[in-house]
Parts: sequence; structure tokens; C-alpha cells
Amino acid sequence: MSAPPSPASGGSSRRLLIVVLATLLVALLAVAAVLLLRPAPSSPVAGEPGSGVVRIAGNVEIGGPFALVDHTGRAVTDASFAGKFLLIYFGFTHCPDVCPTELQTIGVALDSLGGAGEAVQPLLISVDPARDTPENLAAYVPAFHPRLIGLTGSDEQVAAVAKAYRVYYAKTPAGPDGNYNVDHTSFVYLMGPDGRLRSLFRAGASPEAVAREIRAQLGAG
Ligand code: NI
Repeated sequence: MSAPPSPASGGSSRRLLIVVLATLLVALLAVAAVLLLRPAPSSPVAGEPGSGVVRIAGNVEIGGPFALVDHTGRAVTDASFAGKFLLIYFGFTHCPDVCPTELQTIGVALDSLGGAGEAVQPLLISVDPARDTPENLAAYVPAFHPRLIGLTGSDEQVAAVAKAYRVYYAKTPAGPDGNYNVDHTSFVYLMGPDGRLRSLFRAGASPEAVAREIRAQLGAG
């Protein structure tokens, strides 16, 4: 700034420039905030924001046939539950925290539905088939709901159903005691009698929100 044309006009135009820049910055921040905070547009899902409930509007490729063994040792397939809504959770009996919480949510939600809840078959599919024998599952599932069925199988059978439901699971390295954990995705899936995914519940969805959504889906048929 060697020779400003005139101190008076230079000062006011600089002030104007600062005001314009500040206004632009505020406008940009506002636009950025709106873009960051709004839910993704054109997503196929619509639910209740913040509830952890995701209602699936169209067809998504989640789910499909499976062949497993239930906690009584009986071989079962998806056809064994024909005509039922399925409420499916993937977890394992040694899980220290998330699985018990989610299974408890399932149990409380189903209880709150009363007789209507009997149209829904709750399933726990093990992602730890090495330790989750039918016997171990039989000792575990009644704690959450009298109708909860535990399912396990060979490594291949479990891998196949996990893939169909896009479930990620992986053993963590065993500790000195030989004990290990299994990292896994933690969604509850509500499948319709037609095998179509109706709703997804994120971990932490309340039993009330889960029950409300199941009731709505049962009403829709
Ligand atoms: Ni778990």
C-alpha cells in the first residue's frame, strides 16, 4: 500500500470489503452447516430421525435363504419360519455388552406387543459358531425371551448367512487365557413374511421405538 488514492475513500472501501467478506463467510458457513446436517437425499430409506429406526421403503438386497442349526439341535432353514415376520440379530453368547443389551431390547419390545408379537419370530444368529454350540445357545437365549431361537452352524453356514445380511464379524486376537472377542455389526433386522427387509434397528434403539415400528409393520401386513 504505497499510495492510496485518498485516505477517506480507501478506508471506507476497505471497511465495505471486510463487511462483504464477513457476510460471505457467514453465508458459506450456514450453507455448509445445512449440507452437513441434513439427511442424505434420495436415500431409499425413511424412518424416524434419531430413533435408531430405519424403515426400508423399497427392495434392498439384504437377507435370503439360510441353513443353520437351532438351539435344540434341529436343522432349520429360512423356510422353517415361513409366514412369520423375523426379528434377526447377529451376535454371540460371550459378548460382554452390546449383544445382551440388544437382545434385551428385542425381548422387551416383543413382550410389549402382547399377542400381536406372536407373528414375529425372534432369532439370534451366532457369529461365533466355534463356541456357540446348540447347548450353549440353549442356556443363553431364554434369558431374553421365551420364544427367542438361537441359531448356529458350521463356519461356512454362518459365513453364508452373515454375507446375505451384510454382517461383518471378525475374531479379535485371543488373550493369555485363550479367550477372544468377536467384533461384529450390530443391527436388528425386521424381515417380512415375504422375506423382504422391512426395517433396520440400530444398536441403542429403544424397546419402545422398536415395538412401535414392529406394530406399524404388522399392521401393514
Ligand atoms: Ni456382541
